[in-house]
Amino acid sequence: MSDSHKTGPLKIAVAGLGTVGAGVLKLLERQADLIEQRCGRRIEVVAVSARSRGKDRGVDLSTAEWYDDPVALAAHPGVDVVVELIGGSEGPAKETVELALERGRHVVTANKALLAHHGTALAAKAEAAGLAIGFEAAVAGGIPIIKGLREGLAGNRVSEVHGILNGTCNYILTEMRTTGRDFADVLADAQKLGYAEADPSFDIDGVDAAHKLAILTSVAFGTPVDFKSVHVEGIRHVSAVDFDYADALGYRIKLLGIARRTDHGIEQRVHPCMVPKAAPIAAVDGVFNAVIAQGDFVDRVLFVGRGAGEGPTASAVVADLIDIARGRSTPTFGVPAAQLSEAQPSPMEARRGSYYVRLMVVDRPGVIADVAAAMRDQNVSMEQFLQRGRAPGEAVPVVLTTHDTEEAAMQRALATIADKESVVEPPRMIRIEQF
Ligand SMILES: NC(=O)c1ccc[n+]([C@@H]2O[C@H](COP(=O)([O-])OP(=O)(O)OC[C@H]3O[C@@H](n4cnc5c(N)ncnc54)[C@H](OP(=O)(O)O)[C@@H]3O)[C@@H](O)[C@H]2O)c1
Repeated sequence: MSDSHKTGPLKIAVAGLGTVGAGVLKLLERQADLIEQRCGRRIEVVAVSARSRGKDRGVDLSTAEWYDDPVALAAHPGVDVVVELIGGSEGPAKETVELALERGRHVVTANKALLAHHGTALAAKAEAAGLAIGFEAAVAGGIPIIKGLREGLAGNRVSEVHGILNGTCNYILTEMRTTGRDFADVLADAQKLGYAEADPSFDIDGVDAAHKLAILTSVAFGTPVDFKSVHVEGIRHVSAVDFDYADALGYRIKLLGIARRTDHGIEQRVHPCMVPKAAPIAAVDGVFNAVIAQGDFVDRVLFVGRGAGEGPTASAVVADLIDIARGRSTPTFGVPAAQLSEAQPSPMEARRGSYYVRLMVVDRPGVIADVAAAMRDQNVSMEQFLQRGRAPGEAVPVVLTTHDTEEAAMQRALATIADKESVVEPPRMIRIEQF
């Protein structure tokens, strides 16, 4: 790394002074002596950029040069590192990072969208120029999962990584379970409390978790970042009654990102899951994130912590800056970008496992036999069947679980069931994961 020989201050330019940017500046100010002790040099903020210059950000910006344009900031003379904390996979964030690399500056970013879409190309560009891209903050906020996988587990072959990668969804699901309230109600509250954005779709539709999963997959398996192969489902269809049934069946409902090596290739999926109450991940509630990695020598490792927020995210950004200040160098995704090996994506239809299905059916003779026949015709074996109460002639919820089966067979059975006249709502399915 080009700065390893330097002993003067590490000069950084920060683009984006919102939640994360302001947090980074506060941390650097408060821990300046500690950081100097740990890496033998100070970290000095020489330039900053955001949209509105007049906004009070709770930090002293008087010694840094102001830029209205973050891309121009990337070319500020004498800068060692450009810290991109704007967000978005395209536009100013991408242009800032690209120009920074062209000008020979290291990059630190918290931008999962950018890395999910352009991570491999950016890594190649950086490594060709002998530069680093630090992105610890992009996945699971304050949890050091990138370093955990890339450095801490570097001696292992990793077969699986899964986790709770979106605190907003985990908060909503936890509230739904503990209060019995419906999704829309809890989402509205989460927005008031600042746990969910005004436009919450990136979070609740699973896209944010999918960005993070695509990055984790690359680090875990040494493959190019392949966001388009992630199967993504969000939490909009999880209903209050699903929590009652899950509880009765011994499960908790979590939105998980799962990356696994299988005989069909690499599986990458984000969707609501039922997990046994006794699984460690089932106990991770509220805004907390968790990641579990399975390595061949280390066995199972669990990381838990805050996945977002000013302090935790700043902690991760500054850890990357300290690596650069110390002159530590690691290939971006664990193996050099040119050697990331393409892997076959495993299609969702090939997933094997058990399923929870909730149907709204008209309570009359023969309906259950029709459902059972649709399952049998696809060789799907039912494990449990729950119907609480009767209401002849009216729609009632009916829940069933299956033994292990293939997703393709399950989808065919559900399509047949959905077509039945006595099934009055689309069937809702939640995959069961036995961790
Ligand atoms: N918030 C978290 O807890 C968290 C956790 C992990 C990762 N991240 C990632 O960190 C990044 C930043 O998130 P954030 O929550 O800090 O966002 P934020 O609070 O919305 O801040 C974004 C910052 O970028 C500035 N900005 C936006 N467009 C700009 C433009 N065209 N030119 C110059 N500056 C521009 C904004 O300026 P103004 O302030 O003047 O409007 C603001 O300072 C994102 O990639 C996000 O995904 C966030």
